[in-house]
Amino acid sequence: MTEKKHKDAGRLSLPDKYLDLDQTLDSAFQILSDATKNRRSLFHTPTLSTFDEGRVSIRTMVLREFDPDRRLIRFHTDFRSIKIQQLKKDSHGAVHAYDPSLKIQIRLDGKINLHHKDEITKSSWELSKEMSKECYFVGGSPGTRIDDPTKYDPPTFNFESCNGFENFCVIVFQFESMEFLYLKKSGHRRAIHNWTAAKHQASWLIP
Ligand SMILES: Cc1cc2nc3c(=O)[nH]c(=O)nc-3n(C[C@H](O)[C@H](O)[C@H](O)COP(=O)(O)O)c2cc1C
Repeated sequence: MTEKKHKDAGRLSLPDKYLDLDQTLDSAFQILSDATKNRRSLFHTPTLSTFDEGRVSIRTMVLREFDPDRRLIRFHTDFRSIKIQQLKKDSHGAVHAYDPSLKIQIRLDGKINLHHKDEITKSSWELSKEMSKECYFVGGSPGTRIDDPTKYDPPTFNFESCNGFENFCVIVFQFESMEFLYLKKSGHRRAIHNWTAAKHQASWLIP
């Protein structure tokens, strides 16, 4: 098997040709693991989709942790944000990212558990950098209409006006399916992996 040369060579060991479904799973899990610590990876900031009364709602999020054994992805957000209201009504979510240098798209479909003021939130808060914690000290709810766009610029808002931890929320996304797409002129590869009651099944798809 020839090793692919790309900007992440050295950190990732991805095949040039996909002939075995296990290779697609291994590559996807390598990419997601790397993305948690590699800020240059385009999978570090995937899109998280939720539902808003029949409409799709999407946004970029930082991928904080990936647990391949339990198929969990951890995101951080503000408990007052609109996505939390949506997730309280419908816990289904999807995550997507694509890196043209790898020629790989990953699509994940699953369910979300919210954590607020519990042990999981506490340990994630303690591990967060001061800079990341700062946004949770903002006095108003994200998405609230304001007249002055500068009102929440860092030097002017009052960090002491609220308790950041109170606003901190951990989103734990567990995927039940993962679709892997590799675009290559000589032959695209598309594979679906499903986990039903922890039983793993995989199949190739027409790209
Ligand atoms: C590069 C980048 C990274 C982001 N990371 C996060 C994040 O980790 N958590 C978060 O809540 N919002 C993050 N955002 C902001 C979201 O995309 C979104 O604007 C915000 O969460 C409000 O979404 P909502 O109104 O649907 O709740 C990020 C945006 C960008 C551009």
